[in-house]
Amino acid sequence: MRHPVFRAVVAGVFVVLAEIAINQEAQTGGQEGAQQQVTYQNMTPEQRAAATHAFLGLGPEPDKAAAARGAPLFEQTCAFCHGPQARGATSASLITSDVVLGDDHGEHLVPFLKKGLPEKGMPAFATMSDDELKDIAEFVHMQVEDVANRGTYQVLHILVGNSALGQDYVAAHCMSCHTAKTFARIGSKFRSPEQLQRGWIWPTRPASSGDSSLADTAAVKTPDGGAITGRVTQLSDFRITLVDRAGKANVIDRKPGVEVRMMDPFAAHQEMIMTLTNDDMHNVTAYLDTLK
Ligand code: HEC
Ligand code: HEC
Repeated sequence: MRHPVFRAVVAGVFVVLAEIAINQEAQTGGQEGAQQQVTYQNMTPEQRAAATHAFLGLGPEPDKAAAARGAPLFEQTCAFCHGPQARGATSASLITSDVVLGDDHGEHLVPFLKKGLPEKGMPAFATMSDDELKDIAEFVHMQVEDVANRGTYQVLHILVGNSALGQDYVAAHCMSCHTAKTFARIGSKFRSPEQLQRGWIWPTRPASSGDSSLADTAAVKTPDGGAITGRVTQLSDFRITLVDRAGKANVIDRKPGVEVRMMDPFAAHQEMIMTLTNDDMHNVTAYLDTLK
């Protein structure tokens, strides 16, 4: 259960109160053991974020990969009424909501969202999967963390990955569809690491994308049981050319028994993201950030 102090005080003002209180706690603690005399002012930004988090009783830290997956879902299904960062729009802010603060990882929010509040004008999200709703819940918790720590939290935690491991991950998981050109100088295309992370996890298709080669991937099954997935570089009624993960071009004749399944390119991205761990996500962002 999250701390009642949080919801009692208006966001923005309460952080100052929290700082004072944490400071006092830290000083009191210091009297008992002189070597532990860490005041709020002396803390590293990371320690401050942790102290604020603990003081406000914010419960377990949100799962960042899940929150990243939840971001576009929230944007599509909730932002119109609750604002893009859940801080309120045509309807209530969720930052100080009891339902949100009483929830750890969706155990209350998911059933709540499935039912909605039809009597107050909030639709039921009965057809969304539990996984999607859990990701949305994590996204909302992340917004609460952001407010609590005045935005330092996410920025602090975003470039903590290991860029060498990120480079390996990109080589193994991204080059079936992308070329080095996609990532060249990508680190300087975004204003912040946070936007970079959002940008590569949830790329949006430019309104007039001239680069349609990237847009098509396909899975091909051959009668001998072979299966090849990759980027479609050439397609006709008779033949398909797929560039596979290793960068090899496979030319396949579309004779009887050959099954070609064209795939929604963004669905493929989404699928990849579903298996992404927090570590993978941080490592990839740290690596892409070095490409300036
Ligand atoms: C059509 C507008 C609309 C949409 C879309 C919508 N909501 Fe709501 N939501 C509301 C209204 C209205 C309330 C009731 C607010 C009140 O009690 O004043 C509400 C209440 C809530 C509450 C409870 C707030 C409290 O009182 O503690 C939560 C949590 C919530 N919404 C989350 C979501 C999430 C997450 C989504 C997307 C999956 C979503 N809502 C989509 C209109 C909407
Ligand atoms: C299954 C194919 C596929 C895989 C695998 C894939 N992507 Fe993508 N990616 C796409 C498609 C399709 C687009 C949209 C291209 C476009 O902008 O038209 C895209 C777009 C992007 C963009 C935006 C590019 C731009 O110019 O705006 C980035 C960044 C990106 N992907 C990063 C990654 C990273 C990092 C990985 C690996 C962790 C990855 N992708 C794996 C298919 C894939």
